[in-house]
Amino acid sequence: MSDAKTFDQQVSDLNVVHVPWWKTGPIYQIFPRSFSDSSGDGVGDIRGIISKLDYLNNGSDTSLGVKAIWLSPIYVSPGRDAGYDVAEHTVIDSMFGTDEDFDELIAECKKRNIKVIMDMVLNHTSNMSPWFIDSRSGKTSAHRDWYIWSDPKRGGRPPNNWRSWFNGPAWTFDEDSQQFYMHTFHPEQPELNWRNPEVRAACINVMRFWLDRGVSGLRLDVCNVYFKHPDLLDNPRRLGTTVWNRQHHINSKNQPEFHGFLTDLRALLDSYPESMAVGEIFDGRVEVAASYCKKLHMAFNFDIAQQKKWHPRGFQTAISKWDNLLSDEDTWPCYFMSNHDMSRHSSRFGGEVGLDEADACAKVVAAMLFTLRGTPYVYYGEEIGMRDVEIPVDEQFDTGVVFGSRDPERTPMQWNSSSNAGFSSVTPWLRMALDFKNRNVELQESEPNSILNFYRQLSNLRSNSLALLLGNWRPLIRKPDKAMVYLREHQGKYALVALNFTNKKIRVKLDASLPVSQWLLSLSTCRPSDGNEERLEKSFELAPYEASIFGA
Ligand code: GLC
Repeated sequence: MSDAKTFDQQVSDLNVVHVPWWKTGPIYQIFPRSFSDSSGDGVGDIRGIISKLDYLNNGSDTSLGVKAIWLSPIYVSPGRDAGYDVAEHTVIDSMFGTDEDFDELIAECKKRNIKVIMDMVLNHTSNMSPWFIDSRSGKTSAHRDWYIWSDPKRGGRPPNNWRSWFNGPAWTFDEDSQQFYMHTFHPEQPELNWRNPEVRAACINVMRFWLDRGVSGLRLDVCNVYFKHPDLLDNPRRLGTTVWNRQHHINSKNQPEFHGFLTDLRALLDSYPESMAVGEIFDGRVEVAASYCKKLHMAFNFDIAQQKKWHPRGFQTAISKWDNLLSDEDTWPCYFMSNHDMSRHSSRFGGEVGLDEADACAKVVAAMLFTLRGTPYVYYGEEIGMRDVEIPVDEQFDTGVVFGSRDPERTPMQWNSSSNAGFSSVTPWLRMALDFKNRNVELQESEPNSILNFYRQLSNLRSNSLALLLGNWRPLIRKPDKAMVYLREHQGKYALVALNFTNKKIRVKLDASLPVSQWLLSLSTCRPSDGNEERLEKSFELAPYEASIFGA
């Protein structure tokens, strides 16, 4: 580890009283089975993650400066939904390592000022959870009411019209007890009954268990789905293009009781210094996500990540909305562009602009992600421009999902050009990208203009700029159609961000005057960035896919 200034020192140099770690970022999402395999079984594991911590943050600007890692589930699980079907919430699956490995991970992270965020999958369990096994054993079992059971309607039909997000009805019939149980996801993921106080207490205990183990953050899987309408009423129908969209899910999620639970959760988190919760709000409407953000520290915004078109207008509209919704002092936005449930953004936008231009496009995305007002989340591999990998049907693990397998975005991390990309000494659990010899960490470390080095520079710049960390956000082109230009301002310190979304040289015309005209170039994809002074007025030129950040 280098002896360069730690982030905390940098911030104190900037005379900031205190910025909580979760407001700084980047937060790096690790899909553990695909990050790094130390045991040689083809599956990533905890010791593999430990071996890569310096890559994430070595205390200097030669790393990504990651402030926290979010681990997708590492608990005991049959793996029907890649670990999002938990059988034992407080036991680490031996596939990923031991309790000692986990303790070492926490200790090694601490040395590097990296916090650990655990994925809390508490809306449902695996059908192999001892809780569900007991629940299913009979109508009078101790855990019967821990899950949502209901009698069939006349003719043996399911209790109501609710759908599973993955496929088919949200109900599965249990022959033995002649009742249905409910599941928003696979039938192997029965829904917990959050109206039962014993369930709520058990879930809070799971959270407390991990906080006591040294974890600083919780990512709450589909948390707004926890509570269902007490009478299990039908959802009203609506017009929609998919079976899922043909109903308003008003009775199967977003129940008022969730707010009460969030109050309890906040009380728990407030008793652990600087801990935080980020919610995955399973709802397309960002107003709904924002409504939980006074108690949750952050919530993911899917509207921005799922922008269908590579066009600045859509992004700017979505960002403005989110930024406005979360402008109160006690709320804070965050941003992500890819995760384990959606096609990687290099493939999504690359598919639109042409894969030859996907890397240039990825830098524009990165510049946007790191310069908005809110914590940036990075999905492993996006920093080298990793793309989706087509997985033949007979090799797929993520199956039975009506919108398509999510394996393509979950392939092993590409570390170097040796066999299996340095991910494992044996054939990995899921096939690797074919391009790994040309696209990997080692190669990009040696190329000054690589996507990886751009991510490192962005992270470093953000950590050193009060305007980028805390400043307000103001777009400077009202209806952008080629470029997005915005200003960040904090107490007289400015950052100006200019992003050209096209492959052409363009001239931008701002709708507002700049507060100053003398700027210092901080970072750019194409301008020489050795601290050049530049004069910027209401109109200036941008090179194809230019992403430039200026300070004043
Ligand atoms: C969340 C997870 C997803 C999982 C689902 C059910 O959306 O991100 O991977 O399949 O919840 O747990």
